[in-house]
Amino acid sequence: MQLSYVFKIISFLALATASTAAPTTTSTLLPPSKDPWYTAPDGFEHAAPGDVLRFRKAPGNLTTTTFGNASCVYNILYRTTNARYHPSWAVTTLFVPKETNGSALLSYQIPYNSVDVDSSPSFTLHGPVSSLGLIQSDIQTALSLGRYVSVPDFEGPTASFFAGVQEGHATIDNVRAVLNHGFGLKEDARYAMWGYSGGSVATEWAAELQVQYAPEMHFAGAAMGGVVSNVTSGLHAADGTRWAGLVPGGLLGITDQYPQAREYLLSQLKTEGPYNKTGFLATEKLSIADAFTLYFNQTVFNYFKNGKAVLISPLIQRAINDQGYMGYHGVPIMPMLMYKAVADEITAIEDTDVMVDEYCKVGANIVYERNTIGGHLAEETNGDQRALEWLTQVLSGTYHHKGCTVKNVALNVTDSPL
Ligand SMILES: *[C@@H]1O[C@H](CO)[C@@H](O)[C@H](O)[C@H]1NC(C)=O
Ligand SMILES: *[C@@H]1O[C@H](CO)[C@@H](O)[C@H](O)[C@H]1NC(C)=O
Ligand SMILES: *[C@@H]1O[C@H](CO)[C@@H](O)[C@H](O)[C@H]1NC(C)=O
Ligand SMILES: *[C@@H]1O[C@H](CO)[C@@H](O)[C@H](O)[C@H]1NC(C)=O
Ligand SMILES: *[C@@H]1O[C@H](CO)[C@@H](O)[C@H](O)[C@H]1NC(C)=O
Ligand SMILES: *[C@@H]1O[C@H](CO)[C@@H](O)[C@H](O)[C@H]1NC(C)=O
Ligand SMILES: *[C@@H]1O[C@H](CO)[C@@H](O)[C@H](O)[C@H]1NC(C)=O
Repeated sequence: MQLSYVFKIISFLALATASTAAPTTTSTLLPPSKDPWYTAPDGFEHAAPGDVLRFRKAPGNLTTTTFGNASCVYNILYRTTNARYHPSWAVTTLFVPKETNGSALLSYQIPYNSVDVDSSPSFTLHGPVSSLGLIQSDIQTALSLGRYVSVPDFEGPTASFFAGVQEGHATIDNVRAVLNHGFGLKEDARYAMWGYSGGSVATEWAAELQVQYAPEMHFAGAAMGGVVSNVTSGLHAADGTRWAGLVPGGLLGITDQYPQAREYLLSQLKTEGPYNKTGFLATEKLSIADAFTLYFNQTVFNYFKNGKAVLISPLIQRAINDQGYMGYHGVPIMPMLMYKAVADEITAIEDTDVMVDEYCKVGANIVYERNTIGGHLAEETNGDQRALEWLTQVLSGTYHHKGCTVKNVALNVTDSPL
């Protein structure tokens, strides 16, 4: 497969945003790492999770360029809780629809999959339409249906990619923040979540953490596709393939809030030869699209002195055990739609089969659709319309499914070979 072709598909399917897609408005837009707005005010720790710490009209021209169905776009900085359960903060981008009765809010988690804070959606959404793909059409469609759409930078201020607890908390609190301030939404507005792949991590963790972390909330539902149930098996599957770019960021992200694990990880990197520390750490400044290019087909564990043995360290295991396995932090009570390609080559279908089975034994409400056509990338497109329809039902109060329904489907929308 030609790299350029892979690249085209990647950006079309919007796993990727970013530095390759520098905003046309760069001169007037500051990236999060340079923008003083992206800091928490003194004393933010004392605010409650989901409290709005500050907000602004989003800079740039989002409503006149890419997101014409929005009347206004805000950036909201809110209090949340990090991967280690300490007070933290995050930013979301809220789109207000042009025509709306304020009855529905969709929290839309973009798979930005990068440990570079400048790959956060609040910045990369300013990129050209060609860099956004499904992201732009999903948001525009939701807006045209009168839904508010909130797009959180769920990896937080240090971009803790793959840190499930971090991502779940930041996702829950972005919804709380929008509801707290209102922005024209009705008090009894329904709210739901949606995310694919890296976005499924934020979405599913939010669903399972909500039971204890935000028991006052009543999500209408959560749709998630390409579900990354087990980060370890994902890292092994991606290594040595066109998806190898997920591995350096994955290891850095999941150890981001574990200083000893991070120190150990770095100590295990080779210092010379073609696969050395410098090359590994290059990912710190890359969007996922650029990481896919740089590490294409590389065996990333070659960067380590003892290869895959780095994972066996109790320090690394602790971080992955805490942050990398869905299904161990609570049983979601909201209705869920899960969709996944049986042939998903990055995140094994068996991992999600097991997770769904466990949830179903303890009363979860799940429709799980296993698509017999396509792989991880194709499923993002193949499942898109189905997820939109499901979300329309839960957000309009017309969804009445109970219990668990697991079925194979044959959805073939894209002709992507991946
Ligand atoms: C927004 O558009 C106006 C007028 O078209 C232009 O002057 C301004 O520079 C744009 N702002 C950004 C951030 O691109
Ligand atoms: C608000 O709009 C939604 C979507 O267009 C619709 O389903 C709902 O019935 C409307 N609610 C009211 C109270 O008009
Ligand atoms: C949403 O945008 C599309 C074009 O992108 C337009 O056809 C449609 O009228 C817009 N809907 C609303 C409610 O603004
Ligand atoms: C995750 O996947 C790995 C294989 O890659 C397996 O050894 C491990 O038991 C799985 N963990 C969980 C919690 O399912
Ligand atoms: C990349 O690896 C895949 C297997 O994952 C292989 O089929 C393909 O030929 C490799 N491409 C290049 C350019 O080496
Ligand atoms: C480290 O790897 C880079 C390529 O990523 C290479 O340019 C550099 O020469 C290597 N450094 C050493 C000391 O081998
Ligand atoms: C899916 O549709 C494409 C055309 O868009 C076709 O080439 C392909 O054979 C179909 N795949 C299956 C499994 O039906």
